[in-house]
Amino acid sequence: MRNFITIEGCDGVGKTHQTRRLKEYCEQMGLNVVFTREPGGSDIAEQIRKIILDANNSAMDDMCEAFLYASARIQHLKDIIKPALSQGKTVFCDRFVHSSYVYQGLGRNLGLEKIVALNEIAVGEYMPEFTIFLDLSPEQAFLRKGGADKTDRMEAVEFAFHQKVYQGYKDLIAAEPDKFEVIDAGGTADETQQLIRKALVKRGILK
Ligand SMILES: Nc1ncnc2c1ncn2[C@@H]1O[C@H](COP(=O)(O)OP(=O)(O)OP(=O)(O)O)[C@@H](O)[C@H]1O
Ligand SMILES: [Mg+2]
Repeated sequence: MRNFITIEGCDGVGKTHQTRRLKEYCEQMGLNVVFTREPGGSDIAEQIRKIILDANNSAMDDMCEAFLYASARIQHLKDIIKPALSQGKTVFCDRFVHSSYVYQGLGRNLGLEKIVALNEIAVGEYMPEFTIFLDLSPEQAFLRKGGADKTDRMEAVEFAFHQKVYQGYKDLIAAEPDKFEVIDAGGTADETQQLIRKALVKRGILK
């Protein structure tokens, strides 16, 4: 879908930070843009987000979680993304279907094909034109957060999950390289922001 751009990457790589800075830049430039995020992004979708992220719901079935993400996405599309695109705005979304593919499909082992099919029902033609992938391994993101001395205490199972997610993203990118702008997110926040803007210029989104 033209002018629909998503931002993806592993936990803590700087998606939200970079998206906020890009929003400030676009607003300064007077561009017709909407910035949003998932899960959530609109009233009903945010209520679903609360159920998904509620620590008391640790007994939630993985497939139930996958359907809730898809449900929140349907509502978010209806309330925010579709209206903005139909008004000719450029929409940036912090996480979208690719997060479901890699976290639920691969990380939680529900199967990529099933989660792709579920999301096809949820989004239809509203797939991003391309995705900005902030490329930083889970280990690097963790170390940057100040976890240098704690790496060995991090649960191996948690690391294995995030490794699967990271590898999942890499495989999706290899399968459809034109659909991604891979950004080295290992530098300073300023450097990453410059790389993102350069990619958006190349794609004709920014001047
Ligand atoms: N290039 C950078 N250098 C150093 N610190 C950074 C950089 N980018 C982001 N950070 C910091 O790393 C932390 C995580 O960033 P942020 O919340 O934007 O990540 P995220 O990808 O949105 O994470 P999540 O997947 O949990 O939503 C924040 O404290 C942020 O300020
Ligand atoms: Mg974030």
